[in-house]
Formats: sequence, C-alpha cells, structure tokens
Amino acid sequence: MAINIAIDGPSASGKSTIAKELCKELEYKHLDTGAMYRCVALKVVRTGADYNKDEAMKELLENTTIDFTPEGGVLLDGEDVSKAIRTDEISMMASNVSTRKIVRKYLVALQQEIAKDKGYVMDGRDIGTVVLPDAEVKIFLVASVETRARRRYLENQKRGIKCNLRELKEELVERDYQDTHRKESPLKKAPDAIEIDTSEMTIDEVTDAVLNIVRPKLV
Ligand code: DC
Repeated sequence: MAINIAIDGPSASGKSTIAKELCKELEYKHLDTGAMYRCVALKVVRTGADYNKDEAMKELLENTTIDFTPEGGVLLDGEDVSKAIRTDEISMMASNVSTRKIVRKYLVALQQEIAKDKGYVMDGRDIGTVVLPDAEVKIFLVASVETRARRRYLENQKRGIKCNLRELKEELVERDYQDTHRKESPLKKAPDAIEIDTSEMTIDEVTDAVLNIVRPKLV
C-alpha cells in the first residue's frame, strides 16, 4: 500500500536530494513545497506586488499557476523557472512570503489536494506538522550550518549560480531564524518525526537510513 512521507528541516539540510533518492528507490512522486513558495516569491519580485497586503496577495495567488514537469522542472504560469527561483534574492523573498497566512493557506490546500492519492515524498518546513499530520513516515533532517552552506555553495556552482560562501552562510542563518520564529506554522519537528543529523553522512547513508524507517511501513 502506498504511503506519504514527510521530510522537514532547515534550508539546505538535504531534504530535496533525499526526497529525490527515495522517489527513485520507491517509484514515488516528489513534491518540493519550497519550490512553490519560491514561485510566489518570484512573481512578487516580478510584479512588484506588496506581499504584506492581503488584497494584493489574494489577487496574485488567484492568477498564478504552479506546475511540475515529470522531469522535476518547475513551471510558473507555464514558464520554466527552475533556475530563476534558486537565486539568493528569491530564497530570501520565499522566506518572507511564507510568513503570510494567506500564502500558506493557499499553498497548503494545493499540497494536501496533490497528496491525497498517496505515494508522495513531500519536503518543506511544515509537512509533518500541518500539511500531512497523518503522514505514515515523518523525517526531520538537520545538519550544521557550515555543512549546509558548503552544500548549497557546491549546488549553486553546479547550476551556474554565482555566490559567496560567507554570504551564503549569513543568508542561511537569517532564513533559519525567520522560518523558525514566524507566527504561522514555523519550522519545527513534529513530535512523531524521526530526526537525522546528516552533517557527517553521505547521500547514500541518509537514503538508506530513511529507507530502513520506510520499508516496514510498506507491508
Ligand atoms: O526549501 P526551500 O529552501 O526551497 O524553501 C524556501 C522558503 O520557503 C523557506 O525559507 C521557507 C519557505 N517554506 C515554507 O515556509 N514552508 C514549506 N513547506 C516550504 C518552504
């Protein structure tokens, strides 16, 4: 029987990487909820909408479509924005727009609708606590800020995005603070989530650790 797997954790803790590995192994679908907040952020930047105003955000959300291609690309109103949503500016704006209740309500409803057929690995900040409180497996990934900054730096280099390690680290610390201290569904470990510190682990080791938790639930 298919289940849903929730993966939460701070920025660059490896959530999306591990989610993709699990999907390959289990033939599950991946939903990167951070990409959805990033799409809203990109649209805010492009349109100049005031994300602090409910009216402006209501109109923006009602006129926005977010889709995922089977290859893992992200489409905003039909345009492939997979790379455009990964810049530092959009990372910070995604954290900003995600503090707004109206944005969260809209995106959480979409995420719940998508996952209702099961067979999803969903990653984000509030999946185990708010989006899928009944997920059969909940994982909370953590890693030291040094490890996370280094990983994000290498990932950006691979994607051809220019960045500076010190600035990346500062941005991660700032975003972690905002994501864990906001009023609306802050990043926090669900009481029934299993925490894995990936600082000293390889991708294969983390994937195996999660699969060992998932497999008994599949029978
Ligand atoms: O996972 P990410 O770095 O792509 O997420 C970008 C921002 O979106 C993150 O700083 C906080 C927000 N976010 C959220 O509030 N809830 C989620 N489920 C996913 C992301």
